[in-house]
Order: sequence, then C-alpha cells, then structure tokens
Amino acid sequence: MKIIQVTDVHLGRRGEIRYGANLHERLDRCVDHINTRHGDATLCVFTGDLTEAGEAESYADLKSALGRLTVPYRLLPGNHDRRANLIAAFPDNPIDDNGFVQSAFDTPEERLLFLDSLAEGRVTGELCDNRLAWLDARLAEAAGRAAYIFLHHPPVELGLTLLDPLGLERPRRFLDLLARHGNVRYIFFGHVHRDIAGTVDGIPFSAQRGLHARFMLDLVGDEVVEQAPPAYSIVLIDGARVVIHSCDFLENWPLWSPATGERVR
Ligand SMILES: [Fe+2]
Repeated sequence: MKIIQVTDVHLGRRGEIRYGANLHERLDRCVDHINTRHGDATLCVFTGDLTEAGEAESYADLKSALGRLTVPYRLLPGNHDRRANLIAAFPDNPIDDNGFVQSAFDTPEERLLFLDSLAEGRVTGELCDNRLAWLDARLAEAAGRAAYIFLHHPPVELGLTLLDPLGLERPRRFLDLLARHGNVRYIFFGHVHRDIAGTVDGIPFSAQRGLHARFMLDLVGDEVVEQAPPAYSIVLIDGARVVIHSCDFLENWPLWSPATGERVR
C-alpha cells in the first residue's frame, strides 16, 4: 500500500508571499507532482495546519486545489486550523461521534487511524478523554492487524528547545494507551516543519517538514525560519515493512548520463 503524507500546507490569503513563498502555488505544484508520479497511491493524508488562520476562504481555496488531486485524501486539523470551518468546507471528510476530525481507514491487513489533536486557542496539541476513548476502541477493533497513526502534534520530545513545549499535551496518556494495545507500528506527524525520525517506547515515528518554510535546527533569537525546499512523503506499507521516501517536489537538479558522462538536462 502506498500512502502520501503532506503536511503543514498553511494556506493563507490568496497571493500572499510568506517567507518568500506563495503557498497556493506551492500546493498546486505538489498536487501536480503527486498526480503525475503517485496517482497509484491508496490515500493522501494531510497531517494538519491545512490553513494559516483557519479562515473559511482558505478552506475553500484548499478544496479547490484538492479538487484536482486524483488520489483520495483525508484531512487532519493542526493548531492553525479551525475545526468548524474545516468540517463545513469538507463535509465528506469523516468525523467521529463527538465531532472530532478522527477516522479509520481499513485494509484486510492494516488499520490507519487519523487523530484530531487540535486544542482550539492553543499551539500545543490535545487528545482529550473522548478522543482517547475513540482511539482505544478503534485499536481494540484492530486487534490482530497492524495499526498506523497519523496526527499533527508530536507525542514525544524531539530535542528542539523551543518546539518541545509546543507538542502534544500529556503524551504519556497517549503512549500508554498504545502500549496497552501493542499493535501500533508507526506514528506519523507534522507540526515541527522538519524531517525527524526516531522511536518512542519502541514505536517508530517520523515528522515530515511539509510545504511551509522549515524551522531551523537551532532556534535562537528571531532567526528561526529558513526557506528550505518543500517536500511530501511517499509511505510504503505492507505486512512486514514501512518505508518512507521524502520527495522534494520543486527540485530540478541537472541530470547526467552514466553511459556517456554527458549532461542531459
Ligand atoms: Fe505548521
């Protein structure tokens, strides 16, 4: 199964140039690239911060852009989003019985779980009792199948002094729940605008830097953002493996022929 992860789209006002980039154009290029190279993907997962300020206009723009995406998609909110506006713009994007943007995607061998870690008004993330109870039930149903979790906020400190206090609140509740079930194979998130991989309690995780400007590794003073190339991830999952390729879709390096040694582009 091939899954695409796109994160931190941060769509704001149309025509806005933020940190030297037009995020609307960037999203269009990303959609084009996925359509051309990975139209065979099962699902494209957007792991939050879909918009910059959660405005209805931005979700309308997002919907218009994703209307061209040929791969089915699933949207999760991040701290920059407004849940009500997201749900209003995308009524077909599943929500749970409590109105959170949480859902499952099942195959015969796997269960993908999409979590809503948005805490309206805060940068940090939250999985309240209701959201954790939903996750508990969905993991129980998946017993015997591998589960893969997608959410916006990191549930683990990453060694980033300024960003670590802005992750998921009370992560131990979440991690202990995963440990009780024992069938979670991977955690995918965004939020930190960097490519990071590791394990927590033996469960591998990774962050994708996404479409917005990257946070610098050393966050000091006012110089915290660098305009690194945007990227999305190609995630290959089957019963035995998870493989993740990061794709810098705007890069256009010169090409050389190994046969002739000549530059061909
Ligand atoms: Fe973000």
